[in-house]
Amino acid sequence: MNKQLREDLDYTYEKLSQEEREQLCGSTILLTGGAGFLGFYLMQFFCRFRQELGIEQILCLDNFMLGKPKWLDALQEDPHVRAEQFDIITDGLEDLPGAGEADYILHMASIASPTFYRKYPIETVDANIWGLRRLLDFYKERDIQGMLFFSSSELYGDPAPEAVPLREDYNGNVCATGPRACYDESKRFGETLCMLFAQQYGMPIGVVRPFNNYGPGMKLEDKRVPADFAKNVLDNQDLTILSSGAPTRTFCHIADAAAGYLKVLLHGKYDFFNIGIEEPEISIARLAEYYQEAGREVLGYTGEVRYAVSEEADYLTGNPQRRCPHIGKARTILGYVPEIQVSEGVLRFLRYLKEDREGEQLW
Ligand SMILES: NC(=O)c1ccc[n+]([C@@H]2O[C@H](COP(=O)([O-])OP(=O)(O)OC[C@H]3O[C@@H](n4cnc5c(N)ncnc54)[C@H](O)[C@@H]3O)[C@@H](O)[C@H]2O)c1
Repeated sequence: MNKQLREDLDYTYEKLSQEEREQLCGSTILLTGGAGFLGFYLMQFFCRFRQELGIEQILCLDNFMLGKPKWLDALQEDPHVRAEQFDIITDGLEDLPGAGEADYILHMASIASPTFYRKYPIETVDANIWGLRRLLDFYKERDIQGMLFFSSSELYGDPAPEAVPLREDYNGNVCATGPRACYDESKRFGETLCMLFAQQYGMPIGVVRPFNNYGPGMKLEDKRVPADFAKNVLDNQDLTILSSGAPTRTFCHIADAAAGYLKVLLHGKYDFFNIGIEEPEISIARLAEYYQEAGREVLGYTGEVRYAVSEEADYLTGNPQRRCPHIGKARTILGYVPEIQVSEGVLRFLRYLKEDREGEQLW
């Protein structure tokens, strides 16, 4: 296995308490959207520690609308791991062997890259609303231990400056009819569905609002900024910024974020959490510099930073100017402590990509 990936997965494992690890013993885990970025990392995590944690079965569902990755085949060499082409909007869970036995369900199916969700807006709404509803209906009277809905920090929209860092009780500033609405509004309504099913059926649903993850599993063609920059560095081409470079974000390495997601999954009762890292909040221009510096160190990168205009007309429409989470709630209730600073995280990501390119090529 990729050395950097192994190090990242071990880091995530260490972030879980003994009690949290024990909860997974004997369980069946079902993931939707398991072939995507977060799916890659969580699948690698569950598979790497399956025996140690005593996980019985791992069932990965995805409609492969953006392609079927090679790494899924490798994971299925373990007879306790199964991946199925399955569309959560239209296919019946009743007909799927093993679905009824799931103890933990992670609903990740929904394209996360703005470029691609704008291309598939109705599919994006459907995965977050009808797909979620089908899961809720199927599991509402079954004895499950935990269910996780992947919402998004995008549910806060373009926040008022005084609302940053964003707390879970900030109601957001979202446009219902803009090019991002298919994603933002369906995440918002998805959260409403979770709240209602938790109230009416006592379902142990955790809702996570991820803030800008990056790292192993992110496809280089994904059109999210950390992926674009990584591709520029790997191709030894100039780092191209498709905005003024001024919008700010905090970037949370997947090894930290995954620990947060697992903690929410294992929390065992309804609640919602920001999962990200509070600092540093940096501009896109600063992020490009981190990639340049790390690229030089890891790959002998020689490119410069330059600015261009995206070919996509709506690339910047409704793009939040700032995004930075307040994570006090997850810290206090779950013991979630992210520690990988973006400078270190970009190095780790590039080391992973370098090794992948030279070796296994999982994509
Ligand atoms: N990565 C982040 O930083 C981030 C931030 C905010 C929210 N999220 C949320 O987390 C989840 C996972 O994000 P990601 O980055 O892995 O996304 P991704 O786009 O990399 O992967 C999504 C996966 O869902 C699958 N999918 C889409 N519609 C489906 C359907 N109807 N049935 C079955 N599979 C379907 C796709 O084929 C893809 O493999 C998403 O719900 C996303 O909105 C992620």
